[in-house]
Amino acid sequence: MDRNLPIGVFDSGVGGLTVVKEIMNQLPQEEIIYFGDTARVPYGDKSKETVTAYSRQITRFLLSKQVKAVVVACNTASAYALDTIRTESPVPMLGVIEPGAKTAAAATRNGRIGVIGTEGTIRSGLYEAYLRGIRPDSQVFGKACPLFVPLVEEGWIEDDVTRQVSRRYLSELLAQNVDTIVLGCTHYPLLRNVIQETAGEAVTLVNPAYETACELRRMLTDRGCLNDGGKAPAHMFYVSDGAEKFRKFAHSILPCGGAEAGEVFLKVFSL
Ligand code: DGL
Repeated sequence: MDRNLPIGVFDSGVGGLTVVKEIMNQLPQEEIIYFGDTARVPYGDKSKETVTAYSRQITRFLLSKQVKAVVVACNTASAYALDTIRTESPVPMLGVIEPGAKTAAAATRNGRIGVIGTEGTIRSGLYEAYLRGIRPDSQVFGKACPLFVPLVEEGWIEDDVTRQVSRRYLSELLAQNVDTIVLGCTHYPLLRNVIQETAGEAVTLVNPAYETACELRRMLTDRGCLNDGGKAPAHMFYVSDGAEKFRKFAHSILPCGGAEAGEVFLKVFSL
């Protein structure tokens, strides 16, 4: 395989940019082709069948762009679709759940772990399955926090309404004496300060976006597939709708809106 091929990354919308940001930080020489399914977001309340069908379509699109690996940046798609689609893909596929679960299993001291995510991610029980596979003695408490996604997209990051919602969602988990919480949705790392404030400093927050970039670096290194860095990467972003909203979000999240890392292109594309 040509080591200088791009990496495909997809998400239900803008949230996967939190994963792109970590990849850009850790692997600045890599070129990224991103697909955000902004026309069909959210995935969090859709069925496994629907999320799998959408994820398959997007994976095929990314494969048609000759990517060397696919990162499923969306927690819901990783929970519902990755196992199926991975078997159909000629290139390695990586989701966000396994790296996040590994780190949380290593971080917990009392074996009591909270997982927050979309309804789909929590319903799938996949974080729990991985965590208990690594640490069979652990107790995992899941909590769906659907309001966090629109709050982030509204830009209400450090806001009293968000603090109130956070207290309400997290009270159940905190009553279970969890010492570690997995931020199991693309948008939640952006609420890290508010969630840490609610949970208290003694609780460790795990960001699967960061852990996924670490895992991707390991995987590409092991396979001898790291980009040789011979030229500045030209990233490409595709969305299925709402390019302007995406552009604004990208500018607020990515280092210099991605421009620092090379050229950035944005296109609307219907699957
Ligand atoms: N990207 C989704 C996730 O990480 C959150 C937004 C959605 O519901 O589609 O699960």
